[in-house]
Amino acid sequence: MYKDLEARLHDIFWNNEPDADESHLLEKFLLKYPGKALELGCGSGRLLLPLLQKGYNVEGVEISKDMLALLQREAQKMRLCPQVYLADISQHKTSTQYDAITIPAFTLQLFSRDAALSTLIKLRGMACEGAGLYITVFIPWPEILDALEPDAWHPDKETTLSDGTIARCKTRHQIDRTSQSLSRDQHYTISDNSNTILEEQYVHQDLEWYLLPELILMLNQSRWKFDGYDADFSLGNKDSDASLLTLYASAV
Ligand SMILES: C[S@@+](CC[C@H](N)C(=O)[O-])C[C@H]1O[C@@H](n2cnc3c(N)ncnc32)[C@H](O)[C@@H]1O
Repeated sequence: MYKDLEARLHDIFWNNEPDADESHLLEKFLLKYPGKALELGCGSGRLLLPLLQKGYNVEGVEISKDMLALLQREAQKMRLCPQVYLADISQHKTSTQYDAITIPAFTLQLFSRDAALSTLIKLRGMACEGAGLYITVFIPWPEILDALEPDAWHPDKETTLSDGTIARCKTRHQIDRTSQSLSRDQHYTISDNSNTILEEQYVHQDLEWYLLPELILMLNQSRWKFDGYDADFSLGNKDSDASLLTLYASAV
């Protein structure tokens, strides 16, 4: 997961979608919970490094070596020394107690439902009394509503790289509406301008999705107090049927 080409293209595709920027919400959250923060699944540091640069004290835990190698390379360029741990959160051992914990960019949805709940319980144990928790999830409405045909390849992302080659990601999915899970194959390619594929990678990803009531229940079960949410990365937007939900909770 998050290796090789997929890892290299991760930030490029995110940065190509300006509506998918949640850094303003993260920053507002960290201002409310000053002190030491942890990002679960910090990846290549897309969100973590700019926050460090602004003076926030954010550590990261990340399971993918390739993503952390990208983070370290970028950190060196920015002359930053991030404290990051290469670990699966379920195995990560620490005595640090955090004032804020963030799970942005849908990372929680990569865990099975049981593992997501265990992770929230574990993170609660790593939180100071009164600490804040930030979670962003997405609801795959096009797949749920069959606006995207299952079992067929669909163009998902495309961007021209600085050397003129074209990076693409096509996606094919299967959906289980009863268990609220989505299974996706992704085909990452780099092509030249005559469309010859120079590099490619197939990736399989299993995702869970959650509506607001289930997330609130999971927060209660893991001893986090739900404090509110914003929809579609827009402060004050309370559309609970939106595609993007950012939840806030506190350790009480
Ligand atoms: C969608 S990416 C988000 C990366 C980063 N937060 C960002 O916004 O750019 C999810 C990240 O979570 C990491 N991840 C997934 N499962 C994990 C686990 N069990 N423990 C630690 N990191 C994990 C993945 O390797 C990946 O880098």
